[in-house]
Amino acid sequence: MIISGKDLSARLKAEMATRVAAYEKKYGRAPQLTVVLVGEDPGSVSYVTGKAKACEAVGIRNTTIRRPESISEEELLSIIGELNADDAVDGILVQLPLPRHIDENKVIAAIRKEKDVDGFHPLNVAALWMKQPCSLPCTPKGIIKLLKAAGVEIAGKRAVVVGRSNIVGLPVGKLLMDENATVTVAHSRTKDLAAVTRGAEILVVAIGRPKFVTADMVTNGTVVIDVGVNRNPETGKLCGDVDYAAVEPKASVITPVPGGVGPMTITCLMENTIECYLRTMEAR
Ligand code: GUN
Repeated sequence: MIISGKDLSARLKAEMATRVAAYEKKYGRAPQLTVVLVGEDPGSVSYVTGKAKACEAVGIRNTTIRRPESISEEELLSIIGELNADDAVDGILVQLPLPRHIDENKVIAAIRKEKDVDGFHPLNVAALWMKQPCSLPCTPKGIIKLLKAAGVEIAGKRAVVVGRSNIVGLPVGKLLMDENATVTVAHSRTKDLAAVTRGAEILVVAIGRPKFVTADMVTNGTVVIDVGVNRNPETGKLCGDVDYAAVEPKASVITPVPGGVGPMTITCLMENTIECYLRTMEAR
């Protein structure tokens, strides 16, 4: 079975659009997401365009503040300060990665945690690990929704996550644990990685290397979630971290690239923006 993140996203966005229209009537304004994009990295530009389109579909107001690669850390922090103070802004997203002269951690920590739609602020990360209410990071949240929509039973399963990033690997491992999976987090230094991945009943791959997971690394019947967004070095086309053609026949369920996890990340960003907006509006 191939799980289409594109189809599930379309359904979820349609539901959100209906809700947002009702909220707008009730509260007098639509939710507002402001994205800050530094530089011209083609991957980042394409994500930001995708976010703007999704906002339009859902009825979320969307502003993108674009600044050149040469922006100073101080200037960027001052933009964030203004957005923090602006009552009309519900969600702030600073597109990563940032240029090397800017301290990413400092920028993330400067965003008011109530407007942190990425769930990257240290207090939101802490809340996730302590099972307190918070904005959940979008890609991990989207992966859990995909698994549930596909009817995959997570509880009691052996889940292997390949990759230990703050954005995907670590938080998806935590969310899988919260769903009662037994989780192994493997990475580039794991010994005999193929033996570890072959033990997976659910395999989540977020390592950022094209076609890294080959057929010999997967057991028949495994659920395979491919988080990778890479360019195939031979064809220049988008490809995942999983060698899809070779692995698909062995997988019980698999996500394609593009059209799998990617659309779900953006859809969860819409959901997080609405949640931040509602927390503000309901408190008034
Ligand atoms: N760059 C790649 N993925 C993400 C994401 O989920 N959020 C932000 N802010 N930047 C990213």
